[in-house]
Amino acid sequence: MRLKDKVAIVTGAGSGIGRATAELFAEEGAKVVVADIDPKGGEETARLIREKKGVVHFVRADISLDDDARRISQETVGTFGRLDILVNNAATFVLKGFAATVEEWKQSLGTNIIGTAMVTKYAVEHLKKHGGAIVNLGSISGFIAQPDFFAYSATKAALVQMTRNMAMDLGAHKIRVNAVCPGSIITPASFRHMEKTGMTLEQFNKEEGAKTFVGRAGQPREVAWAILFLASEDASYITGASLTVDGGYTAM
Ligand SMILES: NC(=O)c1ccc[n+]([C@@H]2O[C@H](COP(=O)([O-])OP(=O)(O)OC[C@H]3O[C@@H](n4cnc5c(N)ncnc54)[C@H](O)[C@@H]3O)[C@@H](O)[C@H]2O)c1
Repeated sequence: MRLKDKVAIVTGAGSGIGRATAELFAEEGAKVVVADIDPKGGEETARLIREKKGVVHFVRADISLDDDARRISQETVGTFGRLDILVNNAATFVLKGFAATVEEWKQSLGTNIIGTAMVTKYAVEHLKKHGGAIVNLGSISGFIAQPDFFAYSATKAALVQMTRNMAMDLGAHKIRVNAVCPGSIITPASFRHMEKTGMTLEQFNKEEGAKTFVGRAGQPREVAWAILFLASEDASYITGASLTVDGGYTAM
């Protein structure tokens, strides 16, 4: 077990990559805090973990609200007594370019950048006591141009840079900070995108797969493995790094 007795927060764990990560962490021995704005998804992840005898606590929180961001760490330490790992996975998807309104920009930046920064700020107070690891979810969208996407892509590019800066600021406290940058992964977020663009799953897989070396889109679990690696002691000399998990998409 690679995370035995560790306490981990996974934001946005009520769905997709966050849920897969929370489940994998619990299987690897971690006590997991599932933090999500959506109580239905969050409770369902908690139920899936308990079903397999994992240890889990659900916190309903909107990371874009300062009080909620603070409460995630407070409840974690109140419930499990410590904090070792933070996975900043929650994100909002404003998949627009010039069409994005000021309100939509505020939503995108407020959740993906400011919310992530605030959740991290409060978590770091606890991580500083004994060291730990932070994994931020970037995206290949932070490295490449995609049509009508920049209100989202800009936040993911910012997260990659925030990862480097945080790694520098926290190195002396024995806190490592890395980013995982997925390519096209089949999650409820991708299904929403398919619905919007009128694509079937088969078409999505074919179209996105053609942009990779492996000929298919990825599964949430394949991203969770990378997050687990960076969160674990196996990555003890890795900090400030960004790991793409994209089937070769950005290497093409
Ligand atoms: N799916 C992909 O293809 C893909 C690709 C690259 C990067 N990513 C990144 O991976 C992460 C997870 O994506 P996913 O596809 O699993 O998405 P998803 O929509 O399936 O899950 C996101 C979760 O975050 C929660 N959330 C949203 N706003 C929140 C808020 N303000 N506070 C708390 N929780 C909030 C949602 O309720 C949901 O449970 C995101 O950071 C995303 O940018 C996904």
